[in-house]
Amino acid sequence: MIGIVPSILSADFTRLGEQVREAETAGAQRIQIDVMDGHFVPNITMGPMVVEAVRRCTSLPLEAHLMITNPQDYIETFAEAGADVIIVHQETCPHLHRVLMQIKKAGKQTGVALNPSTPVFMLEDMLPFIDLILVMTISPGFGGQDFVPETLPKIRQAREMITRRGLTNIDIEVDGGINIKTAAQVVNAGANLLVAGSAVYNKKESVADAVKRLRLAATS
Ligand code: DX5
Repeated sequence: MIGIVPSILSADFTRLGEQVREAETAGAQRIQIDVMDGHFVPNITMGPMVVEAVRRCTSLPLEAHLMITNPQDYIETFAEAGADVIIVHQETCPHLHRVLMQIKKAGKQTGVALNPSTPVFMLEDMLPFIDLILVMTISPGFGGQDFVPETLPKIRQAREMITRRGLTNIDIEVDGGINIKTAAQVVNAGANLLVAGSAVYNKKESVADAVKRLRLAATS
């Protein structure tokens, strides 16, 4: 089943609670919270306080996408804040196995994100410890960027890699430039969770209509 995962980066923060509840009512599968430190990515956004606030607004599973250096220093903090899935970047974890064990010890699901230039095979040996692979379809840091089509083969490779090993319970999630034009392509390549920020919180239509159109486009 294809899940839509709104990213609150593009939400109206003057009414964040409402926007989260609108996404839940619209049938979103999860909510993604984009944590950026201005060091790993050239932007500073939000931290555990926002996870705590969103936790109070919805019963949907929350993904904390840590676009930060030294994520190992913050795993317990985001776990205690209410994240259900903690996503770290392969590029920030020279000791990835240790960080994945740390997330599991905190009782959370593990996610590993790959920037466009990071190959999928880097994760092969860690698959038994991974619940979600996040293929970044843009260079992380900002919403509203154009989809990078060269990432499509990576989505296919990720799906083939987990299928070959019979680990089909691992989610393949994509993030960046996902909209009604790109949704079907990423699903056909093997993604089952679609993160969308500006396509959902686009201010031209209701969140409900945006999620409905995106889901229709993804399954068309
Ligand atoms: C960017 C974030 C994405 C972003 C997606 O670094 O990780 O989640 O919010 O935004 P859109 O869907 O607008 O590309």
